[in-house]
Amino acid sequence: MKIAIIGASGEVGRMMLTCLSELSINVTELDLFASAKSAGTLLFFNDKPITVQELCETSLLKHYDYVMFSAGAGVARAYAPIAAETGSIVIDNSSGFRKDANIPLVVPEINGDILQGYQGIIANPNCSTIQMVLPLAVLDKLFGLKKVVISTYQSVSGSGNKGIQTLMNQRKGENDKGAYPQVIDLNVIPQIGGFMDDGYTQEEEKMHLETRKILRREDILISATTVRVPVVYGHSISVYAEFERETDLEEAEKALLSSESIEFYANTYVTPRELNGTNNSHVCRLRYGCDKHSLTFWNVGHNIRIGAAANAVRILKQHAAFNR
Ligand SMILES: NC(=O)c1ccc[n+]([C@@H]2O[C@H](COP(=O)([O-])OP(=O)(O)OC[C@H]3O[C@@H](n4cnc5c(N)ncnc54)[C@H](OP(=O)(O)O)[C@@H]3O)[C@@H](O)[C@H]2O)c1
Repeated sequence: MKIAIIGASGEVGRMMLTCLSELSINVTELDLFASAKSAGTLLFFNDKPITVQELCETSLLKHYDYVMFSAGAGVARAYAPIAAETGSIVIDNSSGFRKDANIPLVVPEINGDILQGYQGIIANPNCSTIQMVLPLAVLDKLFGLKKVVISTYQSVSGSGNKGIQTLMNQRKGENDKGAYPQVIDLNVIPQIGGFMDDGYTQEEEKMHLETRKILRREDILISATTVRVPVVYGHSISVYAEFERETDLEEAEKALLSSESIEFYANTYVTPRELNGTNNSHVCRLRYGCDKHSLTFWNVGHNIRIGAAANAVRILKQHAAFNR
């Protein structure tokens, strides 16, 4: 397959190279693009060096089977339609198209069926949403999801390379707030994205809208509080969920244990530092909530892998399986 990655030098772009290799995608041609800043940088795919090119007006006039964007919403809105016009399938990691009713927002294990026969732009969901909807989809099927209340603990790599740099600089003693509204080192910040009129932040709104869209359940009530913490990689989420029907812990455990892309822990828990190379959504500390109509659990995922690159490559794989 002929593939291009836009934003190849970034956190997600570099991981995309790893995931294309790990998920055994048959790549016959690979072009890498970024801004002028990283043009000329040498990146490696399966040990083969590839020089990053500067993205320009004409870069995407060439037809690719798949063009993977991870360069922010502005770049995606400007360039994805150009790529789609040539017949390339676009998979975009930014928030640029996620709210568009005509653009599929896909977690393949849940709603991959909508990729059948689809051509054009596909949106990859927000990082915390992907890891959380995987177990929620399983529990929704069993008990009928009604309401979700969540608090996130999101790592600095969620803000891209500048988030990591900010934390590292502050750990060396610099006081510059960098990528954040407050100092993040030895702190937690209950704000991700700008505030909206209703008091929620943009990140919280993403979790509300995207969860409903992926689960195809516009009636689900959801309230998120998203928090940045001084962790480098890996987002954690405290999830409380209410259901139409009475739940059963054993049934829930069994279903989670046998679900694709979910790793369930019965008697222990996992922390972000232990995630290493995993592309799964990790579910632990599952217990009843306020009563038997509710469950609560701790959910951890590698934001650059399952939260971005791995899900994007799984979309590619599923789309190709349906349509090629
Ligand atoms: N980090 C996460 O956990 C995560 C999760 C899900 C989705 N996403 C989304 O994925 C995208 C990338 O995130 P990231 O974490 O990889 O950010 P990042 O580390 O800051 O990387 C951004 C990439 O975009 C490139 N870029 C910036 N402006 C460009 C332009 N005008 N033309 C071409 N390339 C340009 C950068 O190139 P240079 O090196 O040349 O600057 C770099 O390769 C964002 O939309 C983000 O919201 C991120």
